[in-house]
Amino acid sequence: MILDAASAGAFTAMMKPIINETFIAHNASFGLYLPLAIVGLFIVRGLATFLSDYGMARAGRSVVRDLRQAVMTKFLLLPSARFDREPVAMLVSRLNYDTEQVSQATSESIKNVITDSLIIIAQLAVMFYNSWRVSVVLVVVAPVIALISFYVSQRYRRLNRKIQEGVGQLAHSAEEALSAQQEVKIYGAQAAETRRYQDLADKNLSLSMKVEATRASASSVVQLVAAVALAIILLVAGREAIAGRMSAGAFVALMLAMMAMLPSLKRITNVQSSVQKGIAAAERLFSVLDEPSEADTGTQPLVRARGEIEFRDVGLRYERQNSESLTGISFRAAPGTVTAIVGRSGSGKSTLIRLLPRFYEPSTGTVLIDGVPIRITG
Ligand SMILES: Nc1ncnc2c1ncn2[C@@H]1O[C@H](COP(=O)(O)OP(=O)(O)OP(=O)(O)O)[C@@H](O)[C@H]1O
Ligand SMILES: [Mg+2]
Repeated sequence: MILDAASAGAFTAMMKPIINETFIAHNASFGLYLPLAIVGLFIVRGLATFLSDYGMARAGRSVVRDLRQAVMTKFLLLPSARFDREPVAMLVSRLNYDTEQVSQATSESIKNVITDSLIIIAQLAVMFYNSWRVSVVLVVVAPVIALISFYVSQRYRRLNRKIQEGVGQLAHSAEEALSAQQEVKIYGAQAAETRRYQDLADKNLSLSMKVEATRASASSVVQLVAAVALAIILLVAGREAIAGRMSAGAFVALMLAMMAMLPSLKRITNVQSSVQKGIAAAERLFSVLDEPSEADTGTQPLVRARGEIEFRDVGLRYERQNSESLTGISFRAAPGTVTAIVGRSGSGKSTLIRLLPRFYEPSTGTVLIDGVPIRITG
């Protein structure tokens, strides 16, 4: 990453000798040397970019793999009651989606923060080296432009989201009225339905106009601010040039360094949201990993059961259920006999059987296999 940033800085810094020697001094000896240096620089930069991309991708994908393995292992250790609390689709989405988000934050964002900060530092160094006075002007003006465009893009995004919601409502309203067209006609509600649709369409229009107004005025405001900034820069740079402190090459190098910095600045300001998402996803994943596993306190292995099952006054109430699903169940199923469990749907047959492998623990009473309570307490 350091090499990457350093060669980016070296490239803009080279603009000064290129312009000064080739175009102004007409120095023939530079003719071959500088173009070759550019190729060399980009070979170095290409290698550096490849290595840092590859390394960070490897780290990020390994994070995804490790998290997936760890979370999947944990899922299968969680008690059955845990699966009543959250639908399986949510669990699968954690496995697929949350892990990706964490990887994004750990590799992509970290890589961007480091590389882009280094690039910004390198380009700032080039700028200040070429003329600190002009650079100071730029450093003061740039945040103003950044603030304006930040404010505008926020507003734009907010309005756009509202428009999308509005389009959804519009479609929903049309679908509702059309699919129930017979009812609408029976009740003579055409006028009411049309009015509802018209209101939504009106709202959509005014929102669209707001978005367009924001976008159009924003781009002209940003352009105006940028033009003012450029004018100030030219003013300062012109004075520097007249004072003999700045050559044409230095000016070009400085402007190029500034432009080369912009994509990095943009990425670095956007990185925060991806880091936030990654942190939220990591919190969800680690809360799963930190959950208690199903208790396994048994001491007596059951190699081959005789098959005697006894329920003694067993009762069960599921978590977050108001009433008991089983109350006062007592019976003995002798080995080698068949026991039929008969009852209405919802009377608790499946619940009864789930107690045998201890998917759920009875709230009261004891279940015994071959005369041994399946739950050893104390
Ligand atoms: N995982 C669960 N979490 C909460 N309540 C549950 C759960 N499983 C079942 N119940 C409730 O426990 C009661 C008994 O359900 P159970 O599934 O044991 O009935 P069943 O006799 O097997 O019914 P069916 O004949 O339809 O299979 C029902 O009121 C049901 O709503
Ligand atoms: Mg059942």
